[in-house]
Amino acid sequence: MEFEREQDAVSRRIQAMRQRVSEAKEANLYYFNQPVSELRGGARVIVRGREMGMFASYSYLGLIGHPRINSAAKAAVDRYGTGTHGVRSLAGTLAIHTELEETIADFKKAEASVTFTSGYVTNLTVVSTLVGREDYVISDKLNHASIVDGCVMSGAKFLRFRHNDMDALEIRLKQIPDGAAKLVIADAVFSMDGDIIDLPKMVELCRKYNAWLMIDEAHSVGVLGDTGRGIEEHFDMIGSVDIKMGTLSKTIPSVGGYVAGKRDLVEYLRHAGRAYIFSAALPPAQAAAANEAFKVILDEPWRMEKLRINANQFIQGLKNRGFDTMLTETAIVPVLCGDDEVAYQMTQYSQQRDVFVLPVISPAVPVGLARLRATVTAAHESHEIETAMNIIEQAGKAVGVIQG
Ligand SMILES: Cc1ncc(COP(=O)(O)O)c(C=O)c1O
Repeated sequence: MEFEREQDAVSRRIQAMRQRVSEAKEANLYYFNQPVSELRGGARVIVRGREMGMFASYSYLGLIGHPRINSAAKAAVDRYGTGTHGVRSLAGTLAIHTELEETIADFKKAEASVTFTSGYVTNLTVVSTLVGREDYVISDKLNHASIVDGCVMSGAKFLRFRHNDMDALEIRLKQIPDGAAKLVIADAVFSMDGDIIDLPKMVELCRKYNAWLMIDEAHSVGVLGDTGRGIEEHFDMIGSVDIKMGTLSKTIPSVGGYVAGKRDLVEYLRHAGRAYIFSAALPPAQAAAANEAFKVILDEPWRMEKLRINANQFIQGLKNRGFDTMLTETAIVPVLCGDDEVAYQMTQYSQQRDVFVLPVISPAVPVGLARLRATVTAAHESHEIETAMNIIEQAGKAVGVIQG
């Protein structure tokens, strides 16, 4: 028999969300959670029965569906089955996990690496394992939610600094009492804006104030650096980041997260990180797919070059059409819309014409800075980018984001 609950804060929260979602659905402006039913080549998908150009993917090098990666995943299923025997510390470690961790360490030019089952969980567990109540954690204001959640979970004193502003970071570092442990964290490439952290200055400050430096490379592996190794390679500063965190769900077409760094650090995380000890290991197919993907990146350097050309075409083309693409320098291209409603309308117009872009609205971004968050990948052809930009231009004119 169902229980009639009295209204409380929890039920009010649920109802408020239900109302927000149903209003968007009624206005035909709800674009979240749409299932992709099929992949059609590297940059096209079937959604709601229509073939669309995918301009919202994190698969920056177009590796989803790569034959070598698919074969590696299938071979791992034949060899190991689909699951593991538990958590990594007990019976869950497979030979493919060890192989993947060696591959990542080589790729990141680090002594060692450790993997976890998602990027989100990696940030939670790593931050909260490294720092605690007596310590300080300092985070860029635009860092990803998983970093913020890790900082809160750690119980450390949580300070934030103005986005990519190294003077503001130094002010924070100066506020911390001598002798206290401090961890500075930033995204390498910011997930909503596409700009790049000022690593050289950040490293200088961390050394000056004896702080640990952790960089989240979710959107920089396969995107930055001549061979796709990420932010250290981009700035020619290999070995300068203490805690090189990354995901296996974006350029690497799998799921999971990792930290690469010094052997002692990695061993510490392996024995103290709660997500490693208390959560089941990565499934073998996903570990094998990730392992092969790092090798494909190095074997197919043309993908990096094509991504750079495509990102340049997309950013310049949208700017020339009058859009504000904010500070992006990478494959993540925000198209500023302003109000949430306008971002929804831009999405609707574009998707109705088979360009799959998505809105980013508050609270993911500040009120008034809603945007389309378009991405470009190495799988796009120049003419596909041109077509997509023409449709986004028509959308912009139709809803008044740019002059008609
Ligand atoms: C910067 C950043 N860090 C971490 C994550 C979480 O990674 P995952 O989706 O692999 O759990 C994301 C995901 O969007 C991200 O953008």
